Amino acid sequence: MKWKTYDKGDVLPEDYKKALLNLMSFQGDSEYAGAQRVAENHRFAPRPEEAYRLSKKVMEEMGHAYYVWNLMQDLGVDVNVRLQELARNPTNPDPKKVNVINGFRKENWSPFFECWEDVALFSTVVTPAAVAFLGQYRECSYLPWARTNVRVHKEEHGHLAFGVWASKRCIEFGGEKTREFMQERIPKFMKMGLGFYGRPSAGQTKSQMFDIYYEYGIKVKKPEELQAEYMELLESRLGDIGFEVPQGVEADYDMRMGYEAAESGATIETA
Ligand SMILES: [Fe+2]
Repeated sequence: MKWKTYDKGDVLPEDYKKALLNLMSFQGDSEYAGAQRVAENHRFAPRPEEAYRLSKKVMEEMGHAYYVWNLMQDLGVDVNVRLQELARNPTNPDPKKVNVINGFRKENWSPFFECWEDVALFSTVVTPAAVAFLGQYRECSYLPWARTNVRVHKEEHGHLAFGVWASKRCIEFGGEKTREFMQERIPKFMKMGLGFYGRPSAGQTKSQMFDIYYEYGIKVKKPEELQAEYMELLESRLGDIGFEVPQGVEADYDMRMGYEAAESGATIETA
């Protein structure tokens, strides 16, 4: 491994710790907000089995927040106030107190969901981006966080499998008309998936923070590498269901699900 690594209990350099906690807080807070959003999608559930499987996803997302927050607590962060802010203000948590990615804020999320087909497509088309993005943390230089993300990555793969299953069921029950209806809805989610990692690292508009994270080995892959992984996963799953891969879809970076440009995130006080 080309980066200096740190394990539980090691003294972390101040700048490293600051950068690490920024990214960890984005994961922890956003996993929880993501769970809240997925829970709201219960209103679209068409059958008991779908409702049950969606609940399992909600629980696992809450778990992801819990594991990451535990690691932050080890580093002296008061994570109770973060949970409380999100739990008390699910629709509009204060950006000065928690770091929730744009895509998981209710006002950004809700317009994407009009029916159960959208719920199935989100897990099919956007989740592969999370699988690739969070997957990189398995190799990051802060080993406790790397280990946590081994489990998170497995469960995110499970959520992708849920999306494939749910999409196939939509088509099974709705037939060719439903397949066509869903095919047309793929691009709106693909824009989100393509924008997940931020802008390519060589561009002039790239994030200033990316270089710092990359140098520390907190982020270990460039946006373009993650996007290639995303496309590979996406193409295989869409093909498996019987969808075509839409061409010419452009990334929406403002709906950014990733968070490398988060210089102005909530301040994190440590004891
Ligand atoms: Fe998650």
